[in-house]
Amino acid sequence: MLDELSQIEQNALIALKEIAQETELEQWHVTFLGRNSPLMRVFDQLGSLPKEERPAIGRKANEVKNTLEKAFSQTQERLHQIAIEQALQSEVSDISLPGRKVARGRLHPLTQTLRQISAIFAEMGFQVYRSRDVETDEYNFQLLNFPPHHPAREMQDSFYLDLPHSPDNPILLRTHTSPGQIRAMREFAALNPADPPPVRIILPGMCARYEQITARSEIQFQQVEGLAVGKSITFSDLKGTLTDFARRMFGGSVQSRFRASHFPFTEPSAEMDIECFVCGGVGCAVCKRSGWLEILGCGMVHPVVLQNGGYDPQVYSGFAFGMGIERIAMLRYGIEDIRYFYSNDIRFLEQFV
Ligand code: DAH
Repeated sequence: MLDELSQIEQNALIALKEIAQETELEQWHVTFLGRNSPLMRVFDQLGSLPKEERPAIGRKANEVKNTLEKAFSQTQERLHQIAIEQALQSEVSDISLPGRKVARGRLHPLTQTLRQISAIFAEMGFQVYRSRDVETDEYNFQLLNFPPHHPAREMQDSFYLDLPHSPDNPILLRTHTSPGQIRAMREFAALNPADPPPVRIILPGMCARYEQITARSEIQFQQVEGLAVGKSITFSDLKGTLTDFARRMFGGSVQSRFRASHFPFTEPSAEMDIECFVCGGVGCAVCKRSGWLEILGCGMVHPVVLQNGGYDPQVYSGFAFGMGIERIAMLRYGIEDIRYFYSNDIRFLEQFV
């Protein structure tokens, strides 16, 4: 049986030398080391051998097995190396070939516009405050001085969410960024309730209103709110800040004007227009022949709103403003339809480098 084992070993090693492919190597393994190979049959028979013969044959069988396994892995390694060398040799490099263009993404025009707006206000000392997208009726309306049956609440038809809430305080997607004013003031005031610190922030974010979608209105849109609260803030601070903003955003010579308006959370309230840069104020289709383009709403923070934010209206005053980012971007880039912003058409998006 020792001879038989030597024979098995020799046959296997000879067969191994012939092998040039990985599939053949697998077959070799089955033939010489597999469950039904002659070598494995020797192991199976060990138990039935005379006791004296068993150790020598067992030892020899193990040696053969080790030898074959080692030879197997060496061959495996050799075939692998050959495969790599062949692959390298067959690869032809043409170093004069021009490289492939890497597709580069770019920022969404609204993101670019928001960044410009933020940068301008940052230079004036305004920090960014991020408030929540989902609000309660209390913050979105009540604390901003909208009484329960105020017509503005009808005007801003809202997306109410089907979530557990108390009956008089439903949960909704915010209809404007103004509720962030209350959240921010309360957070600032909590730092030192006896003498709250001044506030100078902008609050950007997504808003939603349940409206007919047209070229001029979308159900989702972004706003930037602004809020400055301190001990001697006046309407001229408001005018100076926003006039400066308009010049930096739309060009140094742009004319602006403030018109009296109404919002529940500001008193007095105004809307700001800039001179139409399409016709230079003469009157055209873009400005609807008026010569002016409305860009934002603003006003002095209403005493009730200051109070709700934890700021004593006897001591503090402030101004606030709110603008639609889509509208600013449409004016800046001459975009005629607000629906382009959210329709993900690459031909539109590619134009804003
Ligand atoms: N929240 C108003 C809206 O969505 C915009 C606005 C107007 C915000 C006047 C203000 C403001 O802070 O003072 O139409």
